[in-house]
Amino acid sequence: MSGNITFTMVKPDAVRNNYTGPILKIINESGFRIKAIKMVHFTRERAEAFYGIHAGKFFFDGLIEFMTSGPLVAAILEKENAINDFRELIGNTNPEKADAGTIRKLFAESLTANAIHGADSDENAIREGSFFFSELEQF
Ligand code: GTP
Ligand code: MG
Repeated sequence: MSGNITFTMVKPDAVRNNYTGPILKIINESGFRIKAIKMVHFTRERAEAFYGIHAGKFFFDGLIEFMTSGPLVAAILEKENAINDFRELIGNTNPEKADAGTIRKLFAESLTANAIHGADSDENAIREGSFFFSELEQF
């Protein structure tokens, strides 16, 4: 896998707003290949495990409430330097601070409803991808 794979989720706000297609188009046109993809509705239990690192923080309950509010689209993406290039493509966590042209600037509603997730390390891409895909070794 060595740096060429990342994990993303089109979050429930973007799915609800019918932005899944436009977002995937930008991802493809930015040089990422979709290696696996599925639409899923996070249960509270799985969302809490996924975001375990944020447990106890002031925004945790709102984050879980939001991430379980509707279906999301989880995907494994491939590109050279995938982690860093994808974080750049999605932009700052807070859409108000995101650069023009980034996915969050274009599609996010707020700091919580921020349209898209991108893994922040190779280790986390594998850990997070494993929540949704069981055949990760094939990528
Ligand atoms: P993700 O790609 O979603 O992981 O975003 P990130 O890596 O840019 O942010 P991080 O992993 O630190 O936080 C995960 C999510 O928690 C973010 O996408 C935000 O929706 C939410 N979050 C993080 N920090 C704050 C905060 O200070 N306030 C609020 N309201 N939400 C936050
Ligand atoms: Mg993060």
